[in-house]
Amino acid sequence: MIDLGTGDGRFVSAAAKKNPRKFYIGIDAAVDALRKPSMKATRKPAKGGLPNVMFIQAAVEDLPEELDGVADEIHIHFPWGSLLAAVLRGDAGVLAGLRRIAAPDCMLEIIVGIDPTRDRAELERLGIPDLTDEYLREGLLQKYTAAGFEYVHGGRLAEGDWAALETSWARRLSGNSNRIVASLVLRAV
Ligand SMILES: C[S@@+](CC[C@H](N)C(=O)[O-])C[C@H]1O[C@@H](n2cnc3c(N)ncnc32)[C@H](O)[C@@H]1O
Repeated sequence: MIDLGTGDGRFVSAAAKKNPRKFYIGIDAAVDALRKPSMKATRKPAKGGLPNVMFIQAAVEDLPEELDGVADEIHIHFPWGSLLAAVLRGDAGVLAGLRRIAAPDCMLEIIVGIDPTRDRAELERLGIPDLTDEYLREGLLQKYTAAGFEYVHGGRLAEGDWAALETSWARRLSGNSNRIVASLVLRAV
């Protein structure tokens, strides 16, 4: 499983602890937050180490070719900056990179959280169009389809559904009732 824009890797570390027989990779462009979980993972298992976890510093725009075809699950939770822009604009190069690291049938789950008022300037700066149903269904989805992903399900999530997600940003954002959180789940074909 690959978690892209993993931040402090909380999602990856928690999942790896629950499923010791599966291998987990957390990727982020920013190295600072990766240091602590990465060091922790290398400890002896009795001291909280996780031999089934690896953290990699890489940008979604330039994923290492060693990852080609390895992921049976890709998660992108609460992206910001260029990662948010890439997934919501459906940048062809980034979608091709996601498809490249995906094994056949790989599940791609994207969860975005946006506060339309507070984030307006940032969304404009990133060139993200208004997230109307029409744009999501026709504009954006077509780009994922063209990149080799088929739609599984998606839509707005109730706070009860996302606040319990084992990520630091789910915790940080919960309680903001203006934030719209939506998921998009696709499958590599
Ligand atoms: C709001 S944080 C979310 C972290 C984590 N997924 C969570 O839910 O707690 C967004 C993360 O995306 C990363 N990011 C932004 N642009 C990126 C890019 N182009 N490639 C990879 N990671 C990126 C940031 O460094 C940051 O750690």
